[in-house]
Amino acid sequence: MDKQTGRGAPSDALVLFGATGDLAYKKIFPALYAMAKRGVLTVPLIGVASSAWGLTQLRKRVTDSIKREGGIDNHRAFDHLLSLLRYVQGDYNDRATFMTIKQALGRARRPAHYLAIPPSLFPTVIEGLDASGLADHARVIVEKPFGRDLASARTLNRIAQSVFPEDSIFRIDHYLGKEAIMNILYFRFANSFLEPIWNRTCVASVQVTLCEEFGVNGRGAFYESAGCLRDVIQNHLFQIVALLAMEPPAYQGYGAVHSEKAKVFQAMRPLRPEDLVRGQYAGYRKEPGVAKDSDVETFCALRLFIDSWRWEGVPWYLRSGKCLAATAAEVLMELKPPPQQLFDDSRPVAGRANYVRFRLSPSSAVAFAARVKRAGKEFIGDQRELYLLEEQAGEEAPYERLLGDAMAGNGALFTREDAVEAAWAVVDPVLKTHHKVRPYQRGSWGPKEADALIRADGGWHNPMPETRRA
Ligand code: BG6
Repeated sequence: MDKQTGRGAPSDALVLFGATGDLAYKKIFPALYAMAKRGVLTVPLIGVASSAWGLTQLRKRVTDSIKREGGIDNHRAFDHLLSLLRYVQGDYNDRATFMTIKQALGRARRPAHYLAIPPSLFPTVIEGLDASGLADHARVIVEKPFGRDLASARTLNRIAQSVFPEDSIFRIDHYLGKEAIMNILYFRFANSFLEPIWNRTCVASVQVTLCEEFGVNGRGAFYESAGCLRDVIQNHLFQIVALLAMEPPAYQGYGAVHSEKAKVFQAMRPLRPEDLVRGQYAGYRKEPGVAKDSDVETFCALRLFIDSWRWEGVPWYLRSGKCLAATAAEVLMELKPPPQQLFDDSRPVAGRANYVRFRLSPSSAVAFAARVKRAGKEFIGDQRELYLLEEQAGEEAPYERLLGDAMAGNGALFTREDAVEAAWAVVDPVLKTHHKVRPYQRGSWGPKEADALIRADGGWHNPMPETRRA
């Protein structure tokens, strides 16, 4: 910590812009409650929004949110959380709002400002913080998607960096706070046996699927401005790819991990329209907030290449969608078959002989698939998985972890400016230039064109719902 500026010291208040919104309700209040239960929440919490609310309404909203998320099981922590709350009503365009926040901060000098607001309001709020002196020694926490495309991400980065140093900007991608995803980094670099096979010599293809059985769940208006590619692929799925594809970090600090991840995005070939299949589930256009003729994709499958020494020629297939057949997230890294077929069944016609599978959600596991001889005279075998199941008891929820880290000034699980921009550069060419959405039935695996995209590489691996074994 810098003694003069206090830089590096924990934040001494949390200012939550958008306190009456959906994100605060669904994610941030439960995370704050979890922190209160662990005894690590001691700073004032200042909710800011334009609604003409008072502290009573904010407390009620927090109470409802916690009840919805699992209930109040620790009254002391709950009362403590309520006692930390303040509420400031105001227009973000009005300097007086920021002066009121300043008063509400009292003696706090190093606040963390959480922008749980639409990205279009980021510049206004960041400029307001700067003009009122509220940015001094402060941190800013922003939600994904960071920008809508490469140009807007660059503009946002410029605005944020004109006021905050990069190490005080915390761009949240909650996937980085998930245990199973943190384990990809650990598993790859805490073991030595993977490295010899983790490359284009042994890997035939990689696929990452994030599928959800539910639809847009009342978020139609938001979704219309995003679509699947912006909502989860450019961020959540790309982050998973970066962890799988990156080179070993050069040193132990998280800056080294950030640098290697940024290089993966920089090496990704920009997408072309033919690399992409966009789908839309039947009935999406009837969702509240959705245009009757909407062309927004609720499903997206794509093929990408990473033009690096390690991954040259290996196709990476990414797929995500709403109203699909299961809710799960998985990675399947398929290994090349043995060079010679010495047994009749060692290259199974259906299915894959050798692969590494990361189950990321809902359970967390790593599995290695291999063929094992069946008892008897014949040299024929069965497909088996060596299965390492992660114990998830006591796991911090991603928002709890990330909020605590941001307030402590630990940027390990956040995204860096160069990585965000490089990721946008990959998807930028297809944000506007693409085919019209292909319809698909709810409960299916998306439009059939998505199957054609991956046919040459053995087809999609569909994660099984709510099961722990393949
Ligand atoms: C969010 C997206 O970022 O991630 C949602 O906006 C998506 O559309 C969600 O459902 C998936 O996150 P999780 O943690 O539920 O897998």
